[in-house]
Amino acid sequence: MAFKLPTLPYAADALEPHIDTKTMEIHHGKHHNGYTAKLNAAIDGTELESKSIEEILGNLDMSNAAVRNNGGGYYNHCLFWEIMGPNSTEMSSELSDAIEAGFGSFNAFKDAFSKAAATQFGSGGRGCVYKAMAN
Ligand SMILES: [Fe+2]
Repeated sequence: MAFKLPTLPYAADALEPHIDTKTMEIHHGKHHNGYTAKLNAAIDGTELESKSIEEILGNLDMSNAAVRNNGGGYYNHCLFWEIMGPNSTEMSSELSDAIEAGFGSFNAFKDAFSKAAATQFGSGGRGCVYKAMAN
């Protein structure tokens, strides 16, 4: 069974002004679409073809770069669409307490997160995260 590019669960402009429409379109139509096609090509004709992405990544042969990189890209983009959304939610008290304990304040956390994101190498995430945190 081949993996399919999931449909965005909300409009591409739904996360404006934090994440702009063009960024969403690039991550969905180019990145995620590319990871999906390359993951399918990497598992075509192998025993991995019948596995879920969680099963593939949970038992990953790290030497298989095509499956590792494209499976990771496929999964990470699926996760991104699921955890982001246009409707804001309240931070849980558990998370708020952990941020306070770890960073001293939410603003200190934002500063540390933004600095870490700005210096972390990755395909695309740096710009998105930094932009989202700056707003
Ligand atoms: Fe992306």
